[in-house]
Amino acid sequence: MLNGNLKLAIQKNGRLTDKSLALLRNCGLEIEDYSERLIITARNYSLDILFLRDDDIPEYVNDGVADIGIVGEDVLYEKKCDVRILRKLGYGKCNLSIAAPEEKKISEFKQLKGLRIATSFPNLLTKFLSENKINADIVEISGSVEIAPSLGVADLIFDLVSTGNTLKFNKLKKSFDVYSFESVLIANKGIQLDQNKNIELNVLLSRIDSALNAKKSKYLMMNAPKDALNKIKEIVPSLSSPTILPLADENMIAVHAVIQSEQFWKIHQLLKDAGASGVLLLPIENIIL
Ligand code: PRP
Ligand code: ZN
Repeated sequence: MLNGNLKLAIQKNGRLTDKSLALLRNCGLEIEDYSERLIITARNYSLDILFLRDDDIPEYVNDGVADIGIVGEDVLYEKKCDVRILRKLGYGKCNLSIAAPEEKKISEFKQLKGLRIATSFPNLLTKFLSENKINADIVEISGSVEIAPSLGVADLIFDLVSTGNTLKFNKLKKSFDVYSFESVLIANKGIQLDQNKNIELNVLLSRIDSALNAKKSKYLMMNAPKDALNKIKEIVPSLSSPTILPLADENMIAVHAVIQSEQFWKIHQLLKDAGASGVLLLPIENIIL
C-alpha cells in the first residue's frame, strides 16, 4: 500500500497483539476490531498497522516494508537484528526458559547434559549452552515447540514463558529461566523517513511516552485534618506541591497528587496512621509532560 502512511508492524496472533493494540488505542488512535486482517489503517491517524508473524517483523523493518515495528527483544536477540530500538514498552515481559514434562525433575544446568532440547531459539540456546559448557542436542523447530516432548522428538524445551498457560496446557513445568525480555518499538537503522512520516512518527512517539508515563502513575486523593498536611508531605515523596482543597469541615482538607503506582502500598498504612481518610487511588489515562 503506497499511501504515504507510516507503517507499523505488530504481531498477528500472540502474546503482544492485544497489548500492542491497547497501547495504540491509549495513544488516541481509533483502530477497528482486528479480525484476521493483514492491514488496518487507523481512522484518525496516518498510520497503517501490518499484522505479521513476530519472527518476521525485524526483517520487514530492515527491508523498509514497515517503517517501525513492535516486537519482543527475544526475536531481536535471536536473529541478531541490526535495528534501532526507539522505546522499551514495558509490556510483554517474558522469560526464555527451560521446561520439562511435569514428571521430570530438572533444576540444575548440568542435568541438561546429553538431553535433546527443542527450541525455535537455536542461537540463544547455543549461547546459553556454550557459556555454561553443557553438551546437549538442539532440536530446531519453528513453531509449537511445546508439543515436542509429547511427540518424543525432544526431552525438554527452551521456549518463551509469559503467563505459563502454554506450559500448563501441554503438561510441562518450568525448570529454570535463562533470559528475560520485554517488548520494544524498533525502526530501521539506515533508511531516512520522508518528512510527513517523520512528523507522524514523532507525534506517535510523544503520545507513546505520555501513555507509558500514565501507566506508571496513579492519581491519589485523600481527606485529612489540616494539621496533618506536613506529616503527609513527608510520607508521600512526590507531594512537594500537592493540590490542596478546602472541605465543608474547615478543619479538614482534601489532598490530591500524582504518585508512582508502586509507591501506594508502601505508604497507604502510614497515611492512615497520619489521619488520612477516604483514600482513593485512580488510574490516569494520559500525562502530558
Ligand atoms: C510464545 C511462546 C508460547 C507463548 C507462551 O509465543 O512460543 O507459545 O508465547 O506464553 P504463555 O506462557 O503466556 O502461555 P509468541 O506469542 O511469541 O508467538 P510465536 O510462538 O508465534 O512466536
Ligand atoms: Zn514469538
